[in-house]
Amino acid sequence: MKKIAVFTSGGDAPGMNACIRGVVRTAIYNNVEVMGIMRGYNGMIEGDIIPLTSRSLSNTIQRGGTILKTARSADFMTYEGRKRAYENLVENAIEGIICIGGNGTFTGAKQFYDEFGIPSIGAPGTIDNDLYGTDFTIGFDTAINTAVEAIDKIRDTADSHDRVFFIEVMGRHAGFIALACGIAGGAEVILVPEIKNDWHKLTDYFSGSNKSKKAFSIIVVAEGDEEGGAYKTVERLKKQIPDFDARVSILGHIQRGGSPTAYDRVLASRLGNAAVEALLRGETNKMAGLMNNKVVLTSYDDAINKNKPLNSELIRLVDVFNV
Ligand code: F6P
Repeated sequence: MKKIAVFTSGGDAPGMNACIRGVVRTAIYNNVEVMGIMRGYNGMIEGDIIPLTSRSLSNTIQRGGTILKTARSADFMTYEGRKRAYENLVENAIEGIICIGGNGTFTGAKQFYDEFGIPSIGAPGTIDNDLYGTDFTIGFDTAINTAVEAIDKIRDTADSHDRVFFIEVMGRHAGFIALACGIAGGAEVILVPEIKNDWHKLTDYFSGSNKSKKAFSIIVVAEGDEEGGAYKTVERLKKQIPDFDARVSILGHIQRGGSPTAYDRVLASRLGNAAVEALLRGETNKMAGLMNNKVVLTSYDDAINKNKPLNSELIRLVDVFNV
């Protein structure tokens, strides 16, 4: 290959810039030209494609967000959109693409290859950590550290006022963020989409007759828990326990921003490098991930469809520590 392109797509994640940098520098190291596609698949459809040099990524390794910007593209879901994207790649003599994103990004890349034969390798860029084939996704470590910092601050108020706080973290379909933050933030209960809420346990825990009840409590709720987030969970408990009182705090998009942690920078750099090397070796339709600290390639099909379970040991610990 003489020329490739890189883009970021879906929700932004801290470390995406470090990954782009890894991609660009690896391509140039291998005497391959590299272009940047702006705003994910939207930029591909609109021909918003810029040349990148080894200096284009200077002073970005520590920056959150993505300098290539990102989007969730509805147009790329249509055949017409994908055809226009293909024509723009041909016009720019781009022979292969590196996509940094999550499920939706890889689903689009796979369909694009099936229809137009443009090879691609993905790097997992999402704070959700919900992709099979990598122990951690780029951005997850930063996101949980941001959330834990916020939880620690809320603990001060919870402690001072002897209050119950329900803290909602991101994760529409996955509880990785909630589980990690819950353990690190000393939560009494963690509610995740993968496990049905145990209403008996919750009502028992907060009822007046519970003698072992702590003076204050932190409950971490994934936005996609069974009830649909912290507010709805608290509403339901208020109906079941007459004197129940709790505050809700939604951490929201604060979890997606900020300077990536050292872990995320190293992960992103390694996966950006590995993705380009795989593409240049002739691989396609695969995601570069890190398992047991080794770079591995996983087919898009497996990365998207195979279930990545929550760590059962962590789930067990919640109850153990709740004595
Ligand atoms: O995919 C990452 C994620 O942060 C999810 O956890 C969350 O549900 C979603 O993005 C929010 O997306 P948006 O910023 O498009 O509302």
